[in-house]
Amino acid sequence: MTLILGIVGHPLDHSVSVPMHMSAIFTLGIDYVYLSFDILPENLSHAIGQFKRENIKGFNVTIPYKETIMPYLDDIDERASRIGAVNTINNESGRLKGYNTDGTGYLTSLREQTGFDPRGKQVLLIGAGGAAHAVAYALLEAGAGHLTIANRTREHADMLCRHLGVYFPGGLLRSIGMDEINEGDHTQSDLVVNTTSIGMKGAGDITMDVTGLGKHAVVSDIVYNPLETGFLKRARAAGLAIHDGAGMLVHQGAESFRLWTGLRPPVDVMRQAVLKALQEHR
Ligand SMILES: NC(=O)c1ccc[n+]([C@@H]2O[C@H](COP(=O)([O-])OP(=O)(O)OC[C@H]3O[C@@H](n4cnc5c(N)ncnc54)[C@H](OP(=O)(O)O)[C@@H]3O)[C@@H](O)[C@H]2O)c1
Repeated sequence: MTLILGIVGHPLDHSVSVPMHMSAIFTLGIDYVYLSFDILPENLSHAIGQFKRENIKGFNVTIPYKETIMPYLDDIDERASRIGAVNTINNESGRLKGYNTDGTGYLTSLREQTGFDPRGKQVLLIGAGGAAHAVAYALLEAGAGHLTIANRTREHADMLCRHLGVYFPGGLLRSIGMDEINEGDHTQSDLVVNTTSIGMKGAGDITMDVTGLGKHAVVSDIVYNPLETGFLKRARAAGLAIHDGAGMLVHQGAESFRLWTGLRPPVDVMRQAVLKALQEHR
């Protein structure tokens, strides 16, 4: 019997997860299919019940359900619960268990593309949404020395600092408003990462002046469409190392695939499928 995987979110028009996972399924020749489930918020609870009845093997969760889906699950992995969001659900003997592979996907990709090691480093993280929770958690877990969280809604940055401060005490965290990113000592940052949706097609640009950063600094953006955002273009022009969002997408997907199938994911094939799909969606 063909096992069903998929992605749940709304809207899902530009998701490249279907070609990414189908490329892995075809390469390994396994009897799985990965489908897109565009579900309206008022239908989420019903859909989850249906997924259990239909014995769906597993699915990814994306905007806007990474946090709101959590109460409908039977179990949540400890790491995902600390992050406060899930992006992967696995059906384990009829029980739906939530995981989060975004943070490890980010870190694997950051290391792969730039060689950056967060240990002891000063980080400016822009954003305080679901992706920011996972990226911040992963950077702190990897030993980041100090993390400043800047966000449009300052209160959300404050809340994220308080949430993470429970697991990473010792004054490692600070919150600021988005209008403060060009002030103070942020030019001392070793890593600046955008985790907001700013920079997605037609959605403005991060206003940070990257020319003040040290030449060793890495500028990272988890937005993957376009692959090189305006923020990354300016960083590249300033001679800085850059890190785009495609690698995170591939590695979080590969980790989900491993959880569902127990198989080693063909990461390079998945990466080629993502790059091809992004070119087609440009
Ligand atoms: N590469 C990958 O694998 C990967 C994985 C996950 C997510 N992403 C991308 O990451 C982005 C964020 O996703 P998410 O799940 O964290 O979304 P989210 O939970 O909705 O959070 C959105 C964040 O962006 C900020 N924001 C949105 N519009 C803004 C604007 N016009 N000006 C200033 N700030 C704005 C929000 O600030 P407020 O708090 O003020 O609203 C919040 O910090 C999306 O583009 C998504 O595609 C990429």
